[in-house]
Amino acid sequence: MMIPSDRPLLIGVMGWPVMHSRSPLMHNYWLDQQGLAGSYVHLAIKPGGLAAALRALHPLGFAGCNLTIPHKLDAMTIVDEVDDVAQMIGAMSCVVVREDGSLFGTNNDWLGFLGNLKQQTPGWRADGGPIAVIGAGGGSRAVCYGLLREGASEIRLVNRTREKAEAIAEDLGGPIQVLPWEERHDALDGVATVVNVTSQGMVGQPPLDLRLDHLPKSALAADIIYTPLETPFLAAARARGNDTVNGLGMLIHQGPAAWKLWFDITPTVTEELRERMERSIAGD
Ligand code: ATR
Repeated sequence: MMIPSDRPLLIGVMGWPVMHSRSPLMHNYWLDQQGLAGSYVHLAIKPGGLAAALRALHPLGFAGCNLTIPHKLDAMTIVDEVDDVAQMIGAMSCVVVREDGSLFGTNNDWLGFLGNLKQQTPGWRADGGPIAVIGAGGGSRAVCYGLLREGASEIRLVNRTREKAEAIAEDLGGPIQVLPWEERHDALDGVATVVNVTSQGMVGQPPLDLRLDHLPKSALAADIIYTPLETPFLAAARARGNDTVNGLGMLIHQGPAAWKLWFDITPTVTEELRERMERSIAGD
């Protein structure tokens, strides 16, 4: 075994609310897969409790944790070292407890987004044509960062609140063109990829208001939402013949990057794991 015997095999996800998170299902699958006797647990941490909870990771014997809503921003000012990637994205998704108890934070969401796209659509390339990104929240930052790292030649970024899109373009640099929200339908003209990173289409939210008549049939439509597994946006794209990728894979594919940091092991993303996660989500 590659892991030193004193390396804790306790990991978890800090969030509030968090009990709905499928991360334990996924990471416990990998603990099994690797034959390791450890646990990945839900850590229900209220907003005001984050600093104390993060500092407790070391004494409690945790190797690290993932962060979800509402902690991804606040953690940046608590851990001892924030890497450049998390700085650029402006959010942290993963914390590593070092040997000396200090805390290191990074962001693996962009890797999850790219890893998923590449696995689901093997011929996909970031420089295969213009990419429309709809939305400019935290998810958008990670997606745009990943697309730029992957060599995107043109990103058309549209958001209801234009200033947030402009801030992303300024912070990340590169070939990001901000377009007005009213032009989102036309922005799909000639794109190779379109990504929804708004919250529209999530369970309890109305569908994304986006006409697909300008979207080339050859384009890939991606969503970072996974509840439901197929958003109305993806269903509409699939109905007209476009390839689609849902958001579940983004969650799954950031996992191996976290494992590499925690344990220097890269677990395998299997079809069985994806099916288990899908069944769990569909059962809600
Ligand atoms: P996340 O971190 O998951 O990206 P977020 O930061 O709350 O979540 O961002 C939500 C995104 O959905 C934003 O792009 C938001 O647009 P605004 O920046 O204008 O708020 C977008 N969004 C939310 N409700 C929307 C709506 N009714 N119509 C269009 N976009 C919406």
